[in-house]
Amino acid sequence: MKQETRSAPYKDQTLPVEARVDDLLSRMTFAEKAGQMTQVEKNSISFQESADYFIGSILSGGGGSPETNNPRAWLEMVNGYLAAARRTRLGIPSIYGVDAVHGHGTVFGATVFPHNIGLGAARDADLVERIGRITAVETAATGIRWDFAPEISVAQDIRWGRTVESYSEDPTIVAELGASYVRGLQGTDLKEPIAVLASLKHFAADGGTHWGSTIKGYSWIPGVWEQVDGEFMIDQGDTDMDEAELRRVHLAPYIAAIDEGARNVMVSYSSWHGLKMSANEYLLTDVLKGELGFDGFLVSDWRAIDQLDPDYYVCVVKSINAGLDMIMVPFDFKRFLATLTLAVEGGDIPMERIDDAVCRILRVKFEMGLFDTPLQDDSLVPLVGCEAHRKVALEAVHKSAVLLKNGQEIIPLSKDIPSILVAGQAADDIGLCCGGWTIEWLGVEGAITPGTTIIQGIQRAASPETQIYYTVDGSLPPGKPEAEVGILVLSEPLYAEGHGDRPDLHLPAEDIALLEQTRANCERLVVILVSGRPLIITDHLSKAEVWVAAWQPGTEAHGIVDLLFGDFPFTGKLPFTWPHTNDDLPAAGKTGDAALFPLGYGL
Ligand code: BGC
Ligand code: BGC
Repeated sequence: MKQETRSAPYKDQTLPVEARVDDLLSRMTFAEKAGQMTQVEKNSISFQESADYFIGSILSGGGGSPETNNPRAWLEMVNGYLAAARRTRLGIPSIYGVDAVHGHGTVFGATVFPHNIGLGAARDADLVERIGRITAVETAATGIRWDFAPEISVAQDIRWGRTVESYSEDPTIVAELGASYVRGLQGTDLKEPIAVLASLKHFAADGGTHWGSTIKGYSWIPGVWEQVDGEFMIDQGDTDMDEAELRRVHLAPYIAAIDEGARNVMVSYSSWHGLKMSANEYLLTDVLKGELGFDGFLVSDWRAIDQLDPDYYVCVVKSINAGLDMIMVPFDFKRFLATLTLAVEGGDIPMERIDDAVCRILRVKFEMGLFDTPLQDDSLVPLVGCEAHRKVALEAVHKSAVLLKNGQEIIPLSKDIPSILVAGQAADDIGLCCGGWTIEWLGVEGAITPGTTIIQGIQRAASPETQIYYTVDGSLPPGKPEAEVGILVLSEPLYAEGHGDRPDLHLPAEDIALLEQTRANCERLVVILVSGRPLIITDHLSKAEVWVAAWQPGTEAHGIVDLLFGDFPFTGKLPFTWPHTNDDLPAAGKTGDAALFPLGYGL
């Protein structure tokens, strides 16, 4: 067999992609086709099994690191799968995917950039493109050529746990930055070994769902009730907007990013008028593939098709017929393959649909040069988390923080203040400053990966004579007089996705106590909010001279300090309306009394 295919046209780099796709497709068995349509999480499959079942793609889910978490171990793990695929009868390359949503954050030592909300505040398309480029280099360094990013959701309700992953409530900003990220990530030629395939997510209108519309626990589907965590309230929910609004607000960023060369789209868990996107043939096939002419491929979200029906057979039939090309299974791939086979044999999924799906996947693999290039070696490993990359992350921190209040114009602070009291756990916690999708899916507190904290920045910036006290609870060391300046860092607890859905965005009681305590121990107070979204601070605004929204800045969190001391000017502008009260939610687009600070605000 090997012999026979050695000189096959699909191996000929000089032939056009379509000719290679056609030739390869004509040689494939059904099992080989079904395998291409399957994406499995690495913990669910061995190297050998991935070859035995002709699996088209492997992913690392959130926190899906190898046992030892370092770039070299990642490269070895990824190459294990890629090499196994190359040993199969036709040698069809597999593609490995990961959520590098703010840098390749799952990898220990990688550069972690501010989450999208911060980049929306920076609103610097060139910066986002450079971040995309760096993320591609660090991702490719570990052998991975597919990034489940950018998230181009246009979040309309900041109670949503994924607001942090959204550039803005304004589709114009999302479209501009999403396209820039694709340009950076994919580079000028997808064939380059450091070009990484972007995944636009989550199609469509995931940012437009309504509070309380998530069907809790999916109890209506016997047997799969565990699908959605009970606390999910808006994530994976439903939207009932009309089609004109869906297109104007939520489709616009897709059009811009596809124009920029995006070749993959991830389909949302959410629904529109009660119909799950994974089963929405009109949007997936008629609009995206038809009207918009998208000829790349669609991947499902993590186990998303399982939510379509109690009967898995129906889930598979509905999703593939609606237009999904690859299914992120991610656990029981044998069940998926068996069900898909049955559905095709039974005539419920036409063979043309299978061939179309496989063509789309192969087309992108050919375009990426996966058939023609050797596996990544370890030459890029030293670039993961390197100084040059961190400099760009630092620039992003400088540009993303928003100065909300500067009472008595105390910013910039003088570097030789006699004493500074620093308070709050996040002042010395890289994990809290990185947020979710860092090392683990939900993030982890503490010194989880190399980076520079806010307190380290203060120690470096202040004059040698300045007395710096750091207490987590805002108390003063015994016998010390009140400090001239207090710097309190408040932070949201860690979360990802629906685990961050929160009905009430008021500061919690512990934060208020911390604020009072720190206030009592300093003359003037600076509050830095480390959060994935605006929080309700109206009643507390007067308790500090200065309020700064720092978002989740990442491993170069110390950049905030440069702004406080005037080494860089504040230039960030709010990418979301900052609501006055919790009752003003959803606040997108609101002005007047409903907005404490309007969209675009920043001193
Ligand atoms: C995985 C994530 C995934 C999530 C979906 C987690 O267990 O680590 O990658 O997004 O499940 O619910
Ligand atoms: C998330 C996606 C992510 C996928 C894989 C899902 O739960 O919604 O954004 O790409 O998991 O981790």
